[in-house]
Amino acid sequence: MKDVSAVILAAGLGTRMKTDTPKVLHELGGKTILGRIIDSLESAGSGSITAVIGYKAEKIEEHFKARSINFVRQNKLLGSGDALVCALDSGKIKEKYVLVTCGDTPLISGETYKNIVGTFLSKKAAGVVLTAKINDPFSYGRIVKNKKGHILKIVEEKDLRISEKKINEVNVGTYCFNKDILDKYAKKIKLNEKKKEFYLTDIIEILSKNGHKVISETCPSCEMIGVNSRRDLAAAYKTINDRTLERLMESGVTIVDPNNTYIDEIAKIGKDTVIFPNTVIETNVEIGEGCKIGPFTRLRPGTKISKDVEIGNFVELCRTKVGESTKIKHHTYLGDTIVGAHVNIGAGVIVANYDGKNKHQTVIDDNAFIGIGVRLIAPVRIGKAAKVGAGSVVTKHRDVPDGATVVGVPARLFKSGV
Ligand code: UD1
Ligand code: CA
Repeated sequence: MKDVSAVILAAGLGTRMKTDTPKVLHELGGKTILGRIIDSLESAGSGSITAVIGYKAEKIEEHFKARSINFVRQNKLLGSGDALVCALDSGKIKEKYVLVTCGDTPLISGETYKNIVGTFLSKKAAGVVLTAKINDPFSYGRIVKNKKGHILKIVEEKDLRISEKKINEVNVGTYCFNKDILDKYAKKIKLNEKKKEFYLTDIIEILSKNGHKVISETCPSCEMIGVNSRRDLAAAYKTINDRTLERLMESGVTIVDPNNTYIDEIAKIGKDTVIFPNTVIETNVEIGEGCKIGPFTRLRPGTKISKDVEIGNFVELCRTKVGESTKIKHHTYLGDTIVGAHVNIGAGVIVANYDGKNKHQTVIDDNAFIGIGVRLIAPVRIGKAAKVGAGSVVTKHRDVPDGATVVGVPARLFKSGV
């Protein structure tokens, strides 16, 4: 796909989101909407990627400054057709073919982008439109075809005739064209009088009336959602989460209640681990085999859990490593902590990893026993098989030697290790 330039139309106001943040910067399962689209295009092997931006453009540029994306400004939001013309006029599109996609369809996979380009190249059409067949086509542009299956036009909801309302093949908002064809025809799109916008979709009728063949490539309906409102954002998140849970269940993880479990899509979880309801597992978390997690557990980024571990209700772990067969079962917060194997953390233990300026590390070594309600002020180390009595506060740098028992506030040596 190196000779295909991708253009993402992302200048819109996102009016229906009722937001001060550009729509494409809204978070969706640990990434921004636009970030997801860029990732999919990159995974498909796209050539240059150009995003057309307008509303709060600086914020978007700032967010993606580390990535190799061209940005083009659309100063007046005159519609998706005008947005594409801005990209063409920028001189930044050098490739022979152009893959146009909307900045608010974050679920299109790299595979689907490859498929539309593949169809475009093999079928020698002037244009290919990505479509989906759905039960409720309301609000999407409808695909009008001739008997040969060639697309004659795309009709937007507002302009539908009654007979066209029941068409259930819709425009996903992704297209592949020859750059020459776009250079020739994109400026021929006329202003839509009802909306005072240039609709990119009108280019299809212009092409077909000029004798050019436009065909469709159909994608799975779960990829087509366009995020226009907060409701769409929630629906898109649900789709991503459902896919993740399916993948995990397929690989041997028990998810007790998939309707109330939220797991980031890159999570790695070993087989025979059981995830109980109302558990939230954020990005970059790994869990070994045979663990029990939840109910009501929150595992934050950078948490790594070995096998046969039990993490129970109201436990939050952040950037924390847990050794095998350790139990952390009730009302606990551990941040920046390395917990060894066969450790027992009692109910209500808190590690204070943040001193108001910096974060510090805590180590709880193998076989240690931490009593209920203990506070550990980082940085501190609890030695192998050491015990910390209930309610104790172990202050920073007051490391507990291997095998020793400490108690009190602040914690003092009660019994030394042998
Ligand atoms: C659009 C399609 C519709 C399709 C749907 C799929 C048009 C006219 N209609 O409708 O056929 O079914 O997507 O989700 O394209 N944009 C700009 N500049 C503008 C206006 C829009 O860059 O001046 C961008 C938006 O940021 C957005 C994309 O173009 O990413 C589509 O615009 P939007 O208003 O969301 O169109 P829809 O009504 O969803
Ligand atoms: Ca949209």
